[in-house]
Amino acid sequence: MANTVIIGAQWGDEGKGKIVDLLSQHSDVIVRFQGGNNAGHTISVAGHKTILHLIPSGILHPKALCLIGNGVVLDPHVFLEEVDELVKNGVDASSQRLGISYKTHLILPYHKAMDAARESARSKDKIGTTGRGIGPCYEDKAARIGLRAGDLANPDLVRAKIERALSEKNILFTRLYQREAMDAAKVADELLSLAPRLLPYLKNVEEEISCAEQAGKQILFEGAQGTHLDIDHGTYPFVTSSNTVAPNAATGSGVGAGLLTKVTGIVKAYTTRVGEGAFPTELFDSVGEYLQKNGHEYGATTGRPRRCGWLDCVILRASARLNGLTEIALTKLDVLRGLETLKICTSYGYQDQKLDYPPQGEGSLAQVTPCYEELPGFDEDISSVRSFSALPACVRRYVERIEEIVGVHIAYVSVGADREATIVR
Ligand code: GDP
Ligand code: IMO
Ligand code: MG
Repeated sequence: MANTVIIGAQWGDEGKGKIVDLLSQHSDVIVRFQGGNNAGHTISVAGHKTILHLIPSGILHPKALCLIGNGVVLDPHVFLEEVDELVKNGVDASSQRLGISYKTHLILPYHKAMDAARESARSKDKIGTTGRGIGPCYEDKAARIGLRAGDLANPDLVRAKIERALSEKNILFTRLYQREAMDAAKVADELLSLAPRLLPYLKNVEEEISCAEQAGKQILFEGAQGTHLDIDHGTYPFVTSSNTVAPNAATGSGVGAGLLTKVTGIVKAYTTRVGEGAFPTELFDSVGEYLQKNGHEYGATTGRPRRCGWLDCVILRASARLNGLTEIALTKLDVLRGLETLKICTSYGYQDQKLDYPPQGEGSLAQVTPCYEELPGFDEDISSVRSFSALPACVRRYVERIEEIVGVHIAYVSVGADREATIVR
């Protein structure tokens, strides 16, 4: 039985939600293992769009068990709002089929306030975070002062931890950032008022996965963000605060690495990025505008326009290595329709050298010159094509050329947002 990890191979928004939803029909358990509601995963079924920020994208399949692992940072309000929205739309989001690990860290109002204070205090060096408190929550986890979902059963512990955290943070808020101090009792009261709704969702996630595995069930791990936003391997410091790469699916959900048998990298047929940071193939011309408009490239979480550019196979080669990709799902191929030529970045020029992999030093990716290969574009509407052989020859060539350069088989080609608009090879 293959247990699959799905990760973004670029800078996020590759279409992970669509592919997780698609593969969920053959999965029994779907697990989020990192990130939080900085993610925005869009699922489109028969024209109806659902955007999920926290709850795994498998939730639309009635038989799947959806779990939020220890590696996630969870905003309790966002979780409950998402549950309510799903229920409103007739989806079962009860604790029978949705669970949160006892060890999942909670995002509190002071994390969001700290995220905002830091970003507004930065001038030229803003990260362009989603403002959801993700970084400050992971900081508290590493500082060993975080609150975990399991703590909700112990009001005294909740109050003590919040008081402890705010005793430091209020000094920063008032003295460094000229903001109001937060009242620990108020923050604790507000959180504890949500406890009766949250507690039923607590599960021993590692045991749930382990038992499912032993019963021969299929597990799907849903990554958020993208490989080049990884805290270690991404374009530091313009990254998110978690490990987004596939091996973290094990740590972030409490299973052994041996359980991860397949790794599917989601690759958009061009490149986009939201927020700041290097982007070698970024386009500032009419082609960039065309991709943004044709691909509806606006953030599913913040609504910000996404920066657009040509496909960068240098970062994809690195993604293949960092994640151990066993296959690729290529998405949004339909968006390229109407362009006369398609460019693929195959290597970088950097300090008189030709590089096949991104340079390692901080800021060095901003200094590379992309080297391109040009392929003919296409005019045909491919959105209703359902077999690879029925695609126009130059579209097939584009797909096969990416396979050759990156060295990973492209197992799925997505030609539209809808669940059905997928070619399985
Ligand atoms: P995620 O964060 O990786 O799940 O991706 P997002 O949901 O943020 O962004 C991907 C967007 O592209 C969503 O609006 C999807 O509905 C849409 N999408 C996914 N696959 C395709 C595709 O093959 N073609 C088109 N046109 N849209 C797609
Ligand atoms: P999905 O899962 C694209 C980016 C932010 C910012 C940086 C740090 O939908 O692909 P953070 O709030 O995480 O501290 O912001 O990371 N970012 C994303 N970009 N897709 C995402 O998620 C992202 N999540 C975070 O724009 O540059
Ligand atoms: Mg997204």
